[in-house]
Amino acid sequence: MRIVQIVFSPTGGTQRVADLITGAWGLPVTQFDLSDPAAGCTELQLDSQNLVLIAVPSFGGRVPALAIQRLGNISGGGARCAVVCVYGNRAYEDTLIELSDAAARCGFEVIAGVAAIAEHSIFHEYATGRPDAQDTARLQDIARRILDKAGRGGSGAPAIPGNHPYKKAGGGGLVPKAESGCTGCGLCATKCPAGAIDPADPRQTDPQKCISCMRCVSICPDSARKINSLKAGAVALAIKKACLVRKECELYI
Ligand SMILES: Cc1cc2nc3c(=O)[nH]c(=O)nc-3n(C[C@H](O)[C@H](O)[C@H](O)COP(=O)(O)O)c2cc1C
Ligand code: SF4
Ligand code: SF4
Repeated sequence: MRIVQIVFSPTGGTQRVADLITGAWGLPVTQFDLSDPAAGCTELQLDSQNLVLIAVPSFGGRVPALAIQRLGNISGGGARCAVVCVYGNRAYEDTLIELSDAAARCGFEVIAGVAAIAEHSIFHEYATGRPDAQDTARLQDIARRILDKAGRGGSGAPAIPGNHPYKKAGGGGLVPKAESGCTGCGLCATKCPAGAIDPADPRQTDPQKCISCMRCVSICPDSARKINSLKAGAVALAIKKACLVRKECELYI
């Protein structure tokens, strides 16, 4: 059985969860990065011998539209897959069902769904340090149960929670801007999953393209990219109550 990860992870939390699950499978892993605009998917030859992990973050309770769009270019070839959504301890709402539907449309056979928690990539005061030791143990157990189902040749779609139609996708709205410390090195422009930063002038960001994923903020070597603190403070306060109640990783199988 060949293991393949297909992951959209702007700031690394989703990738950490994906690695904890596939790491527990103990087999070599081929990685495909959905956040890389340059990554072509034609080299991904998938068939029923593969076990695939498809992992995305929850943005406003939905799959980031860019991830859905890029996943749509991949042909599942009947490979069994586990779909994983990673969220910042508020709620994942329709993210997992939307991802499961998208995977099925691509020709994957969805055998499991996982919802897991990672540090909030905008509001780091929520889910700080997660996935933690408790999440790790739980995700390793979840991984074993998925591998067991795949190894038995188990099929059958899990009952994944969520709504049809999906909740309305919220506009991110928090577009980071380069501040005076920006040296113009261009790293953020190269790494932006949406191509929203002008490589010729990284101080210019196209708000229509920006998906508010926070990658540029997290990778800037000079900590020069910031979101509007007043706007961010208001949103953080609005979601505080929901974010402070600890949620646990869930498996649907
Ligand atoms: C634009 C945006 C929207 C988000 N919306 C939600 C949300 O609706 N619910 C939630 O619990 N976390 C939300 N988060 C937090 C992320 O889902 C979480 O931090 C995830 O681990 C980020 O993945 P990454 O580290 O792979 O980029 C949001 C983060 C961003 C950047
Ligand atoms: S990574 Fe930081 S310093 Fe480099 S261009 Fe972007 S904002 Fe400026
Ligand atoms: S400019 Fe927007 S889309 Fe690009 S990395 Fe920054 S937050 Fe993400």
